[in-house]
Amino acid sequence: MEMAQAMEPMAKTGSSLLQGRILATLFFEPSTRTRLSFESAMHRLGGSAIGFAEPDITSVKKGENLADTMRVVENYADVIVVRHPLEGAARLAAEFASVPVINGGSGAEEHPTQALLDLYTILKEKGTIDNLNVVLVGDLRYGRTVHSLAYALSLYKVKLFFVSPEMLRMRREVLDVIKEKINVIERNSLDDVIVDADVLYVTRIQKERFPDAAEYAKMKGSYRINLELLKRAKEDMVILHPLPRVDEIAPEVDATSHARYFQQVRNGIVMRMALLALILGKMS
Ligand code: NCD
Repeated sequence: MEMAQAMEPMAKTGSSLLQGRILATLFFEPSTRTRLSFESAMHRLGGSAIGFAEPDITSVKKGENLADTMRVVENYADVIVVRHPLEGAARLAAEFASVPVINGGSGAEEHPTQALLDLYTILKEKGTIDNLNVVLVGDLRYGRTVHSLAYALSLYKVKLFFVSPEMLRMRREVLDVIKEKINVIERNSLDDVIVDADVLYVTRIQKERFPDAAEYAKMKGSYRINLELLKRAKEDMVILHPLPRVDEIAPEVDATSHARYFQQVRNGIVMRMALLALILGKMS
């Protein structure tokens, strides 16, 4: 996070820190922010970016496996970001590549660079991470950002509230690890926790990860952040969202002093600049 902060001026002026270095982004799943912000971060540091966002137009379509794709792309780039629908895919990719691999989202499992920019946003907005009440609401089962963020937050002295419908509860494997370290409270509804929240982290129901469309239909629209709910929130409570949002935050919330999700996007650039510079050995 210190490195991300050091990148703030460079994000504005540009830099030649990574001149001549190449980033490859291999995206086997849809993305707007993660891919573009990594590419933008690399360009702002004077490097360049190659890659694909539609595996259907690559040799993957011909049946090439991930291991071979990695062994090929390592020849073209100094660092590779992979997003893949399968859990464990980034770890596997890293085993086959001789250059560093960054996990840009591995199925429903994890999204670690998002967690870093989320932490950085909390620190910037609240001046601390310790002693905050952080509420994660939404699809805690299939949402990978909340898994990585929960692990990260458990390294601080926070009180974590998990709010979701019963079916979308936080994964047991995550709970088991973080409960050893911090206080965790699970709830079905935001009504009784909204008054205590310092940070409200909202997520989208991950439609594409539901094994059954009928189950998704049942969960759809099961929570919504609106002005009525916010009447009971602390004045300085901030709302974050990894985006994209669908209907879980009403558009009228955007104009309130609570909304920080677009600033959060901005923080993704400096965090990813810091990661690239650190991984490529240009900062320490
Ligand atoms: C998230 C993702 O891909 O997991 N988006 C992102 O990277 N900011 C969240 C989502 O898709 O809901």
